[in-house]
Amino acid sequence: MRQHVNPLSRNFNEIERIPSLIEMFNDSKLNLHLDIGSAAGEFLFDLALVNTSWNYLGIEIRERLVKTAKLKVRERNIKNLYFVFGNANNILNDDQSKLIIKNVKSISFNFPDPWFKKRHHKRRIIQPEFLDVLSSSLQKGSLIFIKTDVKDLFDYMDCTISKNLNFKTIDKKDFNFSESFNPNKVKTNREKYVIFNQRDIFEKIYIKI
Ligand SMILES: C[S@@+](CC[C@H](N)C(=O)[O-])C[C@H]1O[C@@H](n2cnc3c(N)ncnc32)[C@H](O)[C@@H]1O
Repeated sequence: MRQHVNPLSRNFNEIERIPSLIEMFNDSKLNLHLDIGSAAGEFLFDLALVNTSWNYLGIEIRERLVKTAKLKVRERNIKNLYFVFGNANNILNDDQSKLIIKNVKSISFNFPDPWFKKRHHKRRIIQPEFLDVLSSSLQKGSLIFIKTDVKDLFDYMDCTISKNLNFKTIDKKDFNFSESFNPNKVKTNREKYVIFNQRDIFEKIYIKI
């Protein structure tokens, strides 16, 4: 089993800046989706190769995975996909990132690390201050997707996002996935594993109001 990376370690204080949209993508005007905790990026490769009218940006804290993903993007000459290494909390708090967030149509948090022990909850990716950063930069109508197989983590994330009055839940049955960043409901690696093991998945969508 993999050792979880402690995002609060000083190693992540220095951040890799997100480049400008023009530097990252061939067509910077396309809709932009941000996946936080993108691991080796397979989910985003699957999306980017099929949905060429979207740009995809992944942020991942494990450097080796990001290096390999970046190499793969270059080798395959994919122009609508980019990866950034580091702690997403620190990266998105940067002024340059806030300009990028303004262009983000949707963000996914797929199966974030659960950090079960109470004293480790501050390592969880979703924090009230992080929600403040997102809500002050995201445009109205932008979406946040959360998904996990850990009920306690789901309740924690749902409670934290719902406490921020700039976000409202969208009923999944009223949601038109065909116009979203993931029209074909591609599954992440963790999601495939959870489905294979017949475990429950808890998910919710929020809109910035
Ligand atoms: C359980 S894995 C899920 C990976 C993928 N989203 C999926 O559904 O298969 C969680 C991922 O989030 C990354 N991660 C954890 N904390 C992070 C942070 N603060 N910033 C960026 N990535 C983080 C981990 O390294 C790991 O790759």
